[in-house]
Amino acid sequence: MDESIVRGKKVVLRPKTADDADDDYRWRADPELAELDATAPLRMDFGEFQRHYHDEMRYPTPWVRRYAIDTLEAKHIGNCMAYDMDTVTGEAEVGIMVGDRKYWGKGYGREAMALLVDQMFQIAGMRRLYLHTLEWNARARRAFAGCGFHELRPVRRGGPNFVLMEMTRDEWMAHRSKVLGDPAQASPE
Ligand SMILES: CC(C)(COP(=O)(O)OP(=O)(O)OC[C@H]1O[C@@H](n2cnc3c(N)ncnc32)[C@H](O)[C@@H]1OP(=O)(O)O)[C@@H](O)C(=O)NCCC(=O)NCCS
Repeated sequence: MDESIVRGKKVVLRPKTADDADDDYRWRADPELAELDATAPLRMDFGEFQRHYHDEMRYPTPWVRRYAIDTLEAKHIGNCMAYDMDTVTGEAEVGIMVGDRKYWGKGYGREAMALLVDQMFQIAGMRRLYLHTLEWNARARRAFAGCGFHELRPVRRGGPNFVLMEMTRDEWMAHRSKVLGDPAQASPE
């Protein structure tokens, strides 16, 4: 039983590996994906990216958890993560990117986020999760709402406008089985 692998009905969350670097580089250099993530496309060449990538894998930070998102057929389609994990307040920010466009709008991102949320509340001991998404990113807002996040307030940071969304552990536990379906299907392998 590998506790770091989480299986859902459409996706599997697994630890990142060095083999993900090609996909990650392609996605992070993609202008449309960067815009959806409110960031600039990566400019560094692949060699430099790989060096940073391997350093991150070798020296993981305890307040960050990264997962690759695979389909059930083991195709890598994206990544999700929790960061700024604060073990005192029990709060963390979460983020997700389904890099492979063929899998947008088909429930893969929503389930991946729900599995990440479940891990953070049930395994990592978090009590409140939050995220920022661009106001105009209607697909993301709807996917996150479908996981149980609710919109708290708009956030203006001098650039594009974001929406702050959050969910508490109590809220998650109240409707977890509705989002994930049969809980037995969404537990660690
Ligand atoms: C945001 C993201 C994680 C959502 O995952 P997904 O698998 O595409 O989304 P889902 O299919 O689970 O849910 C999308 C919801 O939005 C709806 N939707 C799809 N396309 C839409 C669009 N263009 N406008 C509005 N709503 C849309 C879907 O109908 C669905 O809602 P419903 O099931 O309640 O009807 C994924 O699209 C993604 O990673 N996109 C690229 C990067 C990104 O935007 N990241 C978010 C940064 S905060």
